[in-house]
Amino acid sequence: MKLFAKNYSRREFLKTNIVVGTGVALGTGTANKVLASCATVNKTTPAVLGGEPQVTSHDWPSWPIWKPETDEKRLLEVMRSGVWSRKNVTDEFEKKWAQLMGAKRCLAVVNGTNALNTSLAQLEIGWGDEVLVTPYTFIASVSCILFNGAIPVFVDIDPETFQMDPAKIEEKITPRTRAILPVHILGLPCDMERIMSIARKHNLLVVEDACQAWLAEINGKKVGTFGNAGCFSFQTTKHMAMGEGGAIISDDDEFMDRCFSYHNYGNPYGSTAGQIAAGTVMIGTKLRITEYQAAIGLAQLERLEEQTNLRNENAGYLKSLIGKIPGIVPYRLYENVTKAAFHLFPFLYNKEYFKELPRNKFMEALRAEGVPCSGGYTELNKMPYLKNAFESKYYRKFYPAEQLDYEKYAEENKCPLNEKLCNEQAIWITQNILLGSKSDMENIASAIEKIHLNAEKIKNK
Ligand SMILES: Cc1ncc(COP(=O)(O)O)c(C=O)c1O
Repeated sequence: MKLFAKNYSRREFLKTNIVVGTGVALGTGTANKVLASCATVNKTTPAVLGGEPQVTSHDWPSWPIWKPETDEKRLLEVMRSGVWSRKNVTDEFEKKWAQLMGAKRCLAVVNGTNALNTSLAQLEIGWGDEVLVTPYTFIASVSCILFNGAIPVFVDIDPETFQMDPAKIEEKITPRTRAILPVHILGLPCDMERIMSIARKHNLLVVEDACQAWLAEINGKKVGTFGNAGCFSFQTTKHMAMGEGGAIISDDDEFMDRCFSYHNYGNPYGSTAGQIAAGTVMIGTKLRITEYQAAIGLAQLERLEEQTNLRNENAGYLKSLIGKIPGIVPYRLYENVTKAAFHLFPFLYNKEYFKELPRNKFMEALRAEGVPCSGGYTELNKMPYLKNAFESKYYRKFYPAEQLDYEKYAEENKCPLNEKLCNEQAIWITQNILLGSKSDMENIASAIEKIHLNAEKIKNK
C-alpha cells in the first residue's frame, strides 16, 4: 500500500510550466512565485483535450491508513481476549479523546448521527423548539433536530468561510428558538466566539457538530468544547477512522451521565442512579461501541496530530498557490482560528474568469489532470425530508397547522448564498490529498492553471 504520493521534483514541475514575462527568477524562485506571476503560461495541452495529465501514474495517499506492524497488536489482544463489548479499551479511548480535546468527559457512541441525536435529547431540545443550523452540511446535522421533534431554522452561510454566517443568526431568533447547532463544516471552525456571545445574550443552548473537525481549534481551544456539547464522527472516511463510531464531549457531568445512561438502555449511571439504583431509570436505547472499534480508534489517535499538522501545512501552501489564479478563491479561516482539520480543501470557482466554463466541465478537466474533486453538498434546506416531517402524523399532532405551512417555511428558510455555493461555486478536494507532498500541491495548482489558460478550448470541446 502506497501511503505517500510519488514525489515530483521542483524541476519536473517547472519543466511543465514555461514562464514568460519578467520578474520571475526560474533558478531561485519558488513555485509559489511562478504562480504568483500572472504571466505564467502553462503551454502543455490539458488532459481533457488529449494532453498529458498533470499528475501521471500517480497514487494519492490512500485512506484509511492502517499499519499492521503497529496497529494490529492491540486489536488482536482485544479479539483474543473475548471481551468484545464495551469495557476497558473503550474507557481508555474516551479518556484519551477527552484529554486531547481539553474536555472533562467523553462518551463514545455508535456514530456521529447518534452523538447528535443523543446530545439534543439529553439537553431536552424537542417538540415546540426551533434550532438554528446551517444549510451547508451533511443531513445528520439537520435530521437530529427533526428526530427530536424540533424544527430546523436555516441560517445562510458566508461563502468565503463556507460556515453559518454569525451576522445572520440574530434575525432568525424567535421566542421558540432553543438552540444553535454550529457545524464546523469541511473541518474549518465556525466563528465560535461570536456564536457563543449570541447564545449567551439570548440564553440559547449550543450543540457543536464537530463531526468533520477533529483537533480544529480557535485560539488554541478545540472546537467541540465551546458549547454545551460537542459531537464527533469516526466513520471510515473521517480522519479518526474506526469504521463506524462517534463521540460526545462536555464538561457537564450531569448531562454526560444522562448521555451514558441513554446509550446503555437507560440503565443507571453516575448521577442518574439517584439515591437507590432501582433498575432502568430513564428512557434509553443502545448506542455502545465495541472494544475492537476502540482499539482501532486508539491506533488512529497515534497519528492524528501529525497528520493534522501536515494537512494544515499543505492546505496553506496549496491555498497560497491557487489563490493567485484568477477566479479561484480558496477558503477563508476566521482570524482567531489556530488550526483547522481540513476534512476537505474547499475553494470557490468563478466561471466568469474561466471564459464561462461551467463548473462541471471545470471539474471534469481537473479530474482528467489526475486531481480528484467534487462539487460538494446539495441544498439541504430544499430537500423533501422537511415536507415529509411537516406532513407526518407526529408533527401534525404536536404543532399548530400555521407552523407547518410548508410554503411559508420554505420561503422563510431560503438561503441564496448557499444556493449559489452549492450549485455554482464550491469545489472540494479530499483530505487524503493533503497528506501528499509539496510537489503534489504544486501539481494541483499547475493543473488548475492549465485549465484556466485553456478554458475557451475546453468549453468548446
Ligand atoms: C457534519 C456531519 N455531521 C454528522 C455526521 C454523521 O456522522 P456519522 O456518519 O458517523 O453518523 C457526519 C458524517 O458524515 C458529518 O459529516
